[in-house]
Amino acid sequence: MKKEEIIAEIARLKKEKNVLILAHYYARPEVQDIADFIGDSLQLSRQAAETQADIILFCGVHFMAETAAVLSPYKKVLAPTKYAGCSLAEGADAEGLRRWHEKNPTGLVVSYVNTTAAVKAETDYCVTSSNALEIVKSLPAGVPVLFGPDRNLGAYIAKETGREMELWDACCFVHERIDTESIEAALYAYPEADVLIHPESKGANDVSVMNHPRCFMYSTAGILAHASRSSKQQFVIATEPETLHLLKKQNPGKEFIAIQLENRCHYMKQAGLWEVLEALREEKYRVTVPDEIRERALISLERMLRFG
Ligand code: 13P
Ligand code: SF4
Repeated sequence: MKKEEIIAEIARLKKEKNVLILAHYYARPEVQDIADFIGDSLQLSRQAAETQADIILFCGVHFMAETAAVLSPYKKVLAPTKYAGCSLAEGADAEGLRRWHEKNPTGLVVSYVNTTAAVKAETDYCVTSSNALEIVKSLPAGVPVLFGPDRNLGAYIAKETGREMELWDACCFVHERIDTESIEAALYAYPEADVLIHPESKGANDVSVMNHPRCFMYSTAGILAHASRSSKQQFVIATEPETLHLLKKQNPGKEFIAIQLENRCHYMKQAGLWEVLEALREEKYRVTVPDEIRERALISLERMLRFG
């Protein structure tokens, strides 16, 4: 089949089966282009929770589709490939959190949304990079807090809020490569540009970066918002480079430079148009979460969705 035929067939099946196609900003450009909604983890969770569609086809990674299944238990949630992992989600385990809760009975576990449903079930508050600061600031004083699994985001939030937190020791392999040296090199190479940095990045919690007047820390959605409202013409994007696809579409007159063009998340690229079409035709791969885990994971996710 030609590309145009695949796209036409996707559109036909989507309508016939009342499907909502969600894509993360890091999905392949051609997949972003056929999605009903493109967003970051928080925006996609909201769409999944609110949709009237019968089927949600989630073009992201597995934990995101699981989150949609927790939030929309009566919808059929599909992922275009069998299992798209995430180095961060795989860095935390439910058993470890149970042990921490046993040792810290009054403690609170704050987990980034990049976690499995089983980990969310052991979590008190889920957060995303969009609302982690606000949620951590709202926690009662004097209570032990474990933040996981992303040690870089955790260190950044701890510095910004002044809150002492135990940090889980995992990271995103893409953002771990975006260190202080690469950010400093970008500042030097592009003296007019703003450098927009995802807080999962290793360099994001370095005070010299945090205090630099041309460095800004944002979730992916925040990066897009900054680029649109800024009067600057040039931006270095310090996150997964597929983010440039929408940035360029939305801001045709501005220049965007990926800090590390080859530093991509292969998990997010598993699905192309063909996989999307097959998923719609065969209604695969179904993502479900057992009720016992789902009900507990929902509590921490709903707490997250109450914040902005
Ligand atoms: P956000 O979608 O919260 O910006 O996180 C980025 C990411 O790494 C998703 O896997
Ligand atoms: Fe996971 Fe990092 Fe890929 Fe996001 S970019 S899905 S955090 S490995």
